[in-house]
Amino acid sequence: MAKHLITSALPYINGIKHLGNLVGSLLPADVSARFFRQVGHEVLFICATDEHGTPAELAALEKGQDVETFCNEQYEVQKDIYERFGLSFDHFGRTSRPQNEELTQHMCEVLSENGYITERTVKQVYSPADGRFLPDRYVEGTCPFCGYEKARGDQCENCTHLLDPTDLLNPHSAISGSKDLEIRDSKHLFLQLPKLSDDVAKWVADKKNTWSSLVYSIANKWLKEGLQERCITRDLQWGIPVNRPGFEGKVFYVWFDAPIGYISATKEWSDIDPDNRDWQDWWYDADDVIYTEFMAKDNIPFHTVTFPACLIGSGEPWKKVDFLKGFNWLTYYGGKFSTSQKRGVFTDQALDEFPADYWRYWLMANAPESSDSSFTFDSFAGTINKDLNDTLGNFINRITKIALNNFGEEIPSGGDFSAEEEELAKRLNTLIASYTSNLGKLSFRKALADLRSIWVEGNNYVTLTEPWKVVKTDKERAAVILRTCFNLMRIFAVLSYPIIPATSEKILASLGIATENPGWISEDTAAELQTIKGGEKYTPLEPLFSKITPERIDELTAKYGKEETV
Ligand code: 2FM
Ligand code: ZN
Repeated sequence: MAKHLITSALPYINGIKHLGNLVGSLLPADVSARFFRQVGHEVLFICATDEHGTPAELAALEKGQDVETFCNEQYEVQKDIYERFGLSFDHFGRTSRPQNEELTQHMCEVLSENGYITERTVKQVYSPADGRFLPDRYVEGTCPFCGYEKARGDQCENCTHLLDPTDLLNPHSAISGSKDLEIRDSKHLFLQLPKLSDDVAKWVADKKNTWSSLVYSIANKWLKEGLQERCITRDLQWGIPVNRPGFEGKVFYVWFDAPIGYISATKEWSDIDPDNRDWQDWWYDADDVIYTEFMAKDNIPFHTVTFPACLIGSGEPWKKVDFLKGFNWLTYYGGKFSTSQKRGVFTDQALDEFPADYWRYWLMANAPESSDSSFTFDSFAGTINKDLNDTLGNFINRITKIALNNFGEEIPSGGDFSAEEEELAKRLNTLIASYTSNLGKLSFRKALADLRSIWVEGNNYVTLTEPWKVVKTDKERAAVILRTCFNLMRIFAVLSYPIIPATSEKILASLGIATENPGWISEDTAAELQTIKGGEKYTPLEPLFSKITPERIDELTAKYGKEETV
């Protein structure tokens, strides 16, 4: 049994997330947390809302709310959506909580004591029309690298280049649209990344065999380009105050405090029950912990270079990431999902249309692991109809019908395994081993293909053994076949639990099996196929899924759009 710390990139508070955000970090993190718990590891799954910075301020402004009220409200909205998606966080915190303020200020102090922070006066964009400085996203304009006209002052959404507001061509205020912008002096703190570069490069080099090529190459690209010093403070009201003289009215840059939020959200978790939980066991001198982070590719540089540099520079024994699973983009009909342009399906809308498990299944089966993948309602309906309805759902419906008609609400007993069951056990054994290994390696698309093949074995077995015919001539043989099918149902439910937990719970409940943590399926597949002995009562299941019709697809595309324009 190992200790697995799992974090998902912290979703911005600035609005409800779309399906791309869900599959790019939150959902695969949940699948892994569930899987590792099921196989018996000790798991701590932590997430939080990322509440500082200009995205939060601008979104509050748009809603006509003060930032704190906006964040309080949006935190509850996001938390509720994630619960409904079945995300099994051990704690879902907030970077605006006191634990994060305390730890962020501490990090700055120790980095400063170790010589990695310097004060400097720099030129900042100031807007007389707005009466304030305009850091980061408060300035919009044209990206000097790719020419994208809607680039924001912190990062170009199009080419992912990090930017400074003064880099933008044709800049204007995101608040008032004013083009009358001045450059004024302002004092700020700079993280001396160049001084930490060698240590970070050494640490990254050790990850060559554990990180995917996507993650490793992004980290190395940054290191090779040469690390620049980074300004870690801003002229903003909303954020974590910089507690040093001359910095009144300034706060830390959101990307400085957000990743520290992983640690402070863990402290929130342990502060709830300090007698039984210790955040330091997971973060401080915690060599026994295996730490896995999940995120989309634009977040990789911060997690492979900037944040580890802070942890290294602190000189304190903070736990650093072991495995980092990075995702490409999920597109919406080949174009961008966009929060600002409200393009695509958002997580709240998704749950209004279909149960969480439909989305969880499609997203994990199509996770943008080795390249971008595209969401379309045709693909969604095709997968749900074929895999969930026609394969898993159909197997359970067939069995339930034959069993009910011939044996009532009791699982049939009597008779012994024959060659068909031995063969089934052998075939399943190979597939389950592959599925388990792929989930452990975070190879989700391969894992989902295995899971589908496992379900197919159920239907193949029923087709081969023909219990509806056998029951007319040999009731004992029919009992063996149907009992094996009930055992298959249990096996399917246990194995499917990381992906479609609500469905798994329904199946297990119908078999009278407790569902808190259903455990895993051992390598002795033949024994697993005989766990349910017969004679037990079960509750027949109503159909678990329903097909998505072509008319419904038309309705959905009319409602959410499908044009490929960005
Ligand atoms: O890109 C984002 O959505 C950020 N809010 C992720 C932050 S991850 C962590 F560092 F906090
Ligand atoms: Zn660009």
